[in-house]
Amino acid sequence: MISQASIQQIQSRIDIIEIIGSFVKLKKRGTNYLGLCPFHNEKSPSFTVSPAKEIYKCFGCGKSGNSIGFLMEHEKYSYTEALRWLANKYNVELEETETSPEFKIQQQAADSLFIINNFARDFFADKLFHSEEGQDIALSYLKERGFREEILKKFQIGFNPSGRDELATAALASQYNKEYLLKTGLVVQRDDRLADNYRGRIIFPIHNQSGKILGFGARIIKTNDKAPKYINTPENEIYVKSKILYGSYFARMAIDKADECLLVEGYTDVVSLHQAGIENVVASGGTSLTIDQLRLIKKYTNNLTIIYDGDSAGVKAALRGLDLALEENLNVKLVLIPDKEDPDSYVNKIGAEAFIQFVKAEKKDFILFQLNIALQEAGNDSVRKSAIVNQVAETISKISKTENFTQRQDYVKKVSEILRIEESGFNALVNKFIREKISKDENKAFHKVETPVIPAASEMPEEDRDVLALFQKDRIHEEAMVRSLLEFGLKDWAEGQTVATYMFSQMEETELDKMIDNPLLIDIIHTYKKWYEEGLQPTARSFLYHENQEMNSAIIHIMEVNTDISHNWKEHYEGHIATRDDLFKEEVFSTLNYLKLRKIKRLIDENQSELEKATDPEEQLICLQTHQHLKQMEIDLTRQLGTVIYK
Ligand code: CTP
Ligand code: MN
Repeated sequence: MISQASIQQIQSRIDIIEIIGSFVKLKKRGTNYLGLCPFHNEKSPSFTVSPAKEIYKCFGCGKSGNSIGFLMEHEKYSYTEALRWLANKYNVELEETETSPEFKIQQQAADSLFIINNFARDFFADKLFHSEEGQDIALSYLKERGFREEILKKFQIGFNPSGRDELATAALASQYNKEYLLKTGLVVQRDDRLADNYRGRIIFPIHNQSGKILGFGARIIKTNDKAPKYINTPENEIYVKSKILYGSYFARMAIDKADECLLVEGYTDVVSLHQAGIENVVASGGTSLTIDQLRLIKKYTNNLTIIYDGDSAGVKAALRGLDLALEENLNVKLVLIPDKEDPDSYVNKIGAEAFIQFVKAEKKDFILFQLNIALQEAGNDSVRKSAIVNQVAETISKISKTENFTQRQDYVKKVSEILRIEESGFNALVNKFIREKISKDENKAFHKVETPVIPAASEMPEEDRDVLALFQKDRIHEEAMVRSLLEFGLKDWAEGQTVATYMFSQMEETELDKMIDNPLLIDIIHTYKKWYEEGLQPTARSFLYHENQEMNSAIIHIMEVNTDISHNWKEHYEGHIATRDDLFKEEVFSTLNYLKLRKIKRLIDENQSELEKATDPEEQLICLQTHQHLKQMEIDLTRQLGTVIYK
């Protein structure tokens, strides 16, 4: 039995998107996530996960439940097995009154490593404070650097004596298994005996979220060209470098409180800042941030402030992780420590209060920082400059999650100012990358390579609709008209007239190829018309087995993606939603008229540019008259349509 306290702890950590996302490829649709249902065979996604409600539901097969239910259903776990899986994922220590044998076996390796690490931590701490060598060499060194005893104790810092095998001997005397001892990296095999691996080094234990020791960082005391400055625990069952943030155990509450996580490079930076009272700080170990580390941070805050020394390789490493951070929706800021100092030495130099002020004043936007560096490097090289424009546009496009729309627009504005380019042009470039990303993601998710898939406008929040508007509108509205035809074509429009015949007459009048840009859709309409005139009763289904695969998949796309775009229109100008079937006439009417309106707008633009070119007053007059005529048509159509929707 798992204790109620543990269950609650797990529940408070559960991120249903993350959990289900590890089994099902999910993509964001409005406030929900959508994917292919793992419980039944489907080609188009109807499996929906709501992070707000913390439930999933499949609209195809009807299965629904919460995270635990999902694991039970999908992994065939029992309730407790599901809890264990979650506890493991979220590093929650389970209080159990009894454990199953298989679980015990499974956990044995990890437990043994934890137990040995525990032993070693105590051994090292004891040596630091109570052995002569520890006091004389290590403790005095640490104190000289400004570390006080209480902070060393809090972080459980220790010392591995310089003798050949003091730790190894003590561990073997305590009956620890040799195989596991080697796995921890604390000892190495020398000849036929074990020897200490961190001889003469200061030991920084690395804690997991619940304070257990995953491994160690061991720092040399006297700099030595031959030996590495730090030796770290090798990867094993519990030490997985990509998931570790040094200091996270001690920083959790402070990060939560400050709603900000400071990221530094080194162990000593974390400890020094803590000592100065700045506790919302973790260290990456100087490598580029991994997705797991970012997610760990994201559990507590969306605000990440990276504090590195100005000329460290770490800055470059961190820059490489930037796109990942943006995709995780983190607000990333950067503070550079001057004069070859690092956060540890700098806070010791200027003091806690000044350090806090410094961070506040020097916090730079990470994207803009990256841009400025790149521009400096490019100098006057125009080829490199245009590469930079593309790069930064792509970076900004990564802030693609809907919540951060305003942030993205802010960047577009600021960056186009810095680059001294047209904002609208730059915006279009960013949008291009967003589109590419969307179709790439969707293709990945649904293994469809035939047509790029764009989410239905109605499923997107308002702002995103605007962003994708240029591309989307055209495409979606063209598809919507074709869908009206496929779906309602056989219904009655008026006395002696079907929707199909009405639509054909309208298309003829407006000239089909001036209404629709996409040749594939024109093909579909022609095919429909041919079948219809042959006396067949075509529907979307008739196309599904059409030999033209391209047409076939376009039909599937049209029918599945855009199914409720017209609800939106109706909501806009009628203020209520009725079923599509009730209101099919309006849908037919709106889809046709939108494309007519678009055609007129295009004619107005063409006429406008002719007017600009015209030199002869006669010509100009004709253009002006044409303009008035077109404008009147536009006004009439717009009035019929309900103006609000089309800007
Ligand atoms: N690091 C490492 N292995 C090395 C060097 C560095 O794992 N050979 C990691 C450690 O996590 C270290 C961090 O990179 O803490 C930053 O390195 P560095 O700035 O060189 O060390 P500091 O932590 O600043 O240590 P000190 O202040 O004692 O010089
Ligand atoms: Mn340092």
